[in-house]
Amino acid sequence: MVDPGGVRESAPVLAVVVPTYRERDNLRPLTEAIATALAGIPFEIVIVDDDSPDGTAARARSMAQADPRIRVIQRLHRRGLATACIEGMLATAAPYLAVIDADMQHDERLLPEMLRTLREGTCDIVIGSRYIEGGGTGAWAGERLRISRLGTLVAQMVLRRPIGDPLSGFFMLGRGLLDRTARRMSSSGFKILVDLLLSAETPPRVLELPYTMRCRELGESKLDLAVALDLVLLLVHKGMRRALPPRFLRFLASGLVGGAFHLAVLGLFHLGAGVAFPFAQASATGAAMTINFAVNNRLTYRERRLRGLAELGGLLRFCLASSIGAAVNIAVADRLFGLGASWWIAGLCGTALGSVLNFALSSLFVWARPPRTDEIATLPSLGFLREQVR
Ligand code: GDD
Ligand code: MN
Repeated sequence: MVDPGGVRESAPVLAVVVPTYRERDNLRPLTEAIATALAGIPFEIVIVDDDSPDGTAARARSMAQADPRIRVIQRLHRRGLATACIEGMLATAAPYLAVIDADMQHDERLLPEMLRTLREGTCDIVIGSRYIEGGGTGAWAGERLRISRLGTLVAQMVLRRPIGDPLSGFFMLGRGLLDRTARRMSSSGFKILVDLLLSAETPPRVLELPYTMRCRELGESKLDLAVALDLVLLLVHKGMRRALPPRFLRFLASGLVGGAFHLAVLGLFHLGAGVAFPFAQASATGAAMTINFAVNNRLTYRERRLRGLAELGGLLRFCLASSIGAAVNIAVADRLFGLGASWWIAGLCGTALGSVLNFALSSLFVWARPPRTDEIATLPSLGFLREQVR
């Protein structure tokens, strides 16, 4: 295919997928650097933006007007680095796929060597690695480096493979591996590479090339505590052979925080301040529900987080949903206990059922996003529920 401007002479061999959230000012330097690095190689750049409020998508489109090698996917009402990367890779026909951060932290000059290595056919995926001989993290602050190191160690233990930088956000693979693996991936959170490595049917052949990570000059990092916890839960999800959906695991983790808080408040009020037990227990329950809601709102449903007045309404509905769950929990436990089950089995069964019910009710009545028009006809369909738990 020959285009009038002569910019694209043939179909792209390589697609460089760039997930973006609030990266408007990084786009121009990034695409220029990629184009320089890939001189002579037919490529395209797929920018996948989650409707950033700073107008990243609009900037990307105006750049695409001048350079047809740039393409844009703008997703509405959704957030997520991993799903953005996967959708970007699925939206191109290129046989080789790279993922790179928009903030210039990854060294785009490594791309040609990554491609050459893949084309030799001796590996399925090439990772740009900070933690092998010759690589580095540049001028990173100590704290950030420690978190990254720790996360890397955990991921390596789960992978049980000597991979230096399994959390790298900079890698390249052939379409075959993606085709075979995409449907099996959890796609939750940040850690797309670990997800890919853990989800592949047979362990992919990995090769690492060293690079030194640069510092972010414009915009800010989206990596935070919730992202770190997401990684842990993704590994739990994989560890239990995907028995429970990641969102339910996040819900349970939030529940544990609420439970710990409950005990702390109960102890403080009853033992510490001498408040009568029923009052101490009631205060602790109220406090735990509020904390539980707040954590769920920021962690479990972070991409649909309720804010302002909606958050208050959400809290009330959450308390209502939780009371239904609690009532069922108590009734079931009591019945099992009456039938002769030991106290802890009865208690555990009640709690398990109550948690599942709480999860279902709150995802439908507290954090349900408005159904899309095409869903209204089939509501309540299984598809809708499946979307809720992911
Ligand atoms: N579409 C989309 N949606 N993009 C996102 C989202 C999202 O919800 N969140 C972050 N991004 C984009 C950012 O705009 C950036 O281009 C890239 O994903 C990485 O986000 P950063 O916020 O720059 O992450 P980081 O630099 O702190 O984390 C880096 O190191 C990790 C390992 O320690 C990245 O390279 C990660 O990919 C890597 O896993
Ligand atoms: Mn970054």
